[in-house]
Amino acid sequence: MSPPRGRIEVMHGVNLDQLGRRDPQIYGALTLVELERRIEQEAGRLDLEASFFHTNHEGEFVERLHSLRGQADGVLLNPGAWTHYSWAIRDALEIATLPAVEVHLSDVRNREPWRRVSVIAELCFATVSGRGADGYADALLLLRERLEEGAS
Ligand code: DQA
Repeated sequence: MSPPRGRIEVMHGVNLDQLGRRDPQIYGALTLVELERRIEQEAGRLDLEASFFHTNHEGEFVERLHSLRGQADGVLLNPGAWTHYSWAIRDALEIATLPAVEVHLSDVRNREPWRRVSVIAELCFATVSGRGADGYADALLLLRERLEEGAS
C-alpha cells in the first residue's frame, strides 16, 4: 500500500486576492487563482495534496487554523500584512501544531522596515521570500522533506 499523500493547507491572507492588480514589479503578474493553480500543479508533481484558503478577515484566518487539526499534515502560509503584526494569527498557528512554512512573494527583508518583522517566523521551520511564485514550489518541497523525515 502506498503511503498517504501529504495534505498541505495553502493559506493566503489579507489583500492577496488583489494579486494581478497589485504592483507586478513587486508581486508578479499572476492572479491568486492563477497562483493557486500553479501551486496545485507543483503539489501534484511532488505527490502532495494541496487545499486552498483565502480571506481578508483575520478572525476567519484564525478559525481556519483552528480547524486544521486532523485535516492537514502541513501548512504553507502567506498572511500578507498580518505577518508583521497579528499576534492572534501567531497564537492560532501555535495551536495548530503543524509543520509550517512562511512564504512571501516579495523580498520582505529588503523593503520597508516594518515588513522585516514577522510574528509567525518562530513557528515556521522555514521562510521563503522574494522568489515570487517559485517560492511556493520551494516551500512545498521543504514541507515534503519535513513530512518524509517525520514518517521515517
Ligand atoms: C507579502 C508581503 C507583505 O508585506 C504584504 O503586506 C503583502 C504580501 C508578500 O507576499 O510579499 O500583502 O506577504
